[in-house]
Amino acid sequence: MPERPFIIVAIDGGAASGKSSTSRTLSERLHLLHVDTGSFYRAITAELLRRGLSPADLPAVQAAVATLPFGTRVEGRSARMEIGGRVAGDEIRSREVNEHVSHFAAIPAVRTALLAYQRGQAAVARQHQFKGLVMEGRDIGSVIFPDADFRFFLQADPVERARRRASEGQHDSISERDRLDSSRKTSPLTIPAGATAIDSTHLTLEQVVDRLVAQIEGRASRV
Ligand code: DC
Repeated sequence: MPERPFIIVAIDGGAASGKSSTSRTLSERLHLLHVDTGSFYRAITAELLRRGLSPADLPAVQAAVATLPFGTRVEGRSARMEIGGRVAGDEIRSREVNEHVSHFAAIPAVRTALLAYQRGQAAVARQHQFKGLVMEGRDIGSVIFPDADFRFFLQADPVERARRRASEGQHDSISERDRLDSSRKTSPLTIPAGATAIDSTHLTLEQVVDRLVAQIEGRASRV
């Protein structure tokens, strides 16, 4: 059987919709690099807050993000963002970052600063001999990789999503972040054209991943 080509899988969805656990498990099943773009926006937010900036300080934010020295460290199957050679720690899941990340992510200069970096993860995956990459976020299938081989959109009932976050011990206003992420002008959270929507409310993680794998392997075997 011929070697399967390098594949790009885009997984979008709202806060706590199950993107991270799904993407991580899929990356293990198919030997893909796992790229969590929410962690990139979170790392930048933590860095800008550390510098004392607020999303209202537009010129200062624009100047700062244009010169942030990004790098990538591959740990296991995951791509971690380095800023100035340092990978951010647990502070990216703090209450302060949860409260600010959607505001910084709505700033076009922040998104522009991340565009090429995110697309460059495909080269990182190839360098590290992965069979492809699975990238999760809000605008992956619509903006970052509109030609992705596979596009999925995860949904879940808001009550179930709040329960999932609380079980992780996190304080996070999920619906407020979704409102901000869906209503911003630049690259809003949306179901990308041609994406398969999956509601995970009543599915286990394995069931969700099985659906993705079935679609990916079903198509790959027809090529
Ligand atoms: O996936 P997450 O909840 O960790 O993402 C944190 C925030 O980052 C989210 O509220 C909006 C922003 N984000 C974005 O604007 N675009 C992406 N591709 C990923 C995340």
